Amino acid sequence: MSEPRRFTRAQVAARSHRADAAVIIDNVVYDVTGFLSDHPGGAEVLLDNAGKDATKCFRDVGHSDDAYTWREQYVAGEVVDEEKWPVEPRDMPFDSTREPLTLSGLLGAAFPPVALAAVSYMVYLYLFG
Ligand code: HEM
Repeated sequence: MSEPRRFTRAQVAARSHRADAAVIIDNVVYDVTGFLSDHPGGAEVLLDNAGKDATKCFRDVGHSDDAYTWREQYVAGEVVDEEKWPVEPRDMPFDSTREPLTLSGLLGAAFPPVALAAVSYMVYLYLFG
């Protein structure tokens, strides 16, 4: 596999117009010149971010898996190591840090209301039964 092309952030900054538009997302440089008219979010938002690091914008939109796959077509290279920013893991639509649903978890959650109902029933029987 050949080495990816490396760009400084200043080199990317020069590519900020319709005829030559590049954005940085997660330290990867995407040449979006040919994608402007195909972008479902419109050309404007790409042009506003052309030449810049658009990681935050790309994330905030909550782009779909398709978008993540699609962007691979436009990879031009990556940012030089000295200018890389820390990459945050992608937010998933569900919270994967939560514990999975288990039977004991379910029983634990169900116990208090069921116990309360049982005690109420016994009190009812004691008083009126
Ligand atoms: C090569 C990079 C990109 C690809 C392949 C891409 C792809 C897509 C796709 C497929 C959608 C439709 C919704 C979805 O499936 O998520 C979308 C919507 C959108 N994108 Fe991108 N996008 C890219 C870069 C960006 C960037 C850098 C920004 C912002 C700076 C952006 C802003 C938006 C917005 C605002 C929408 C509309 C969301 C909505 O209508 O709710 N996109 N994009």
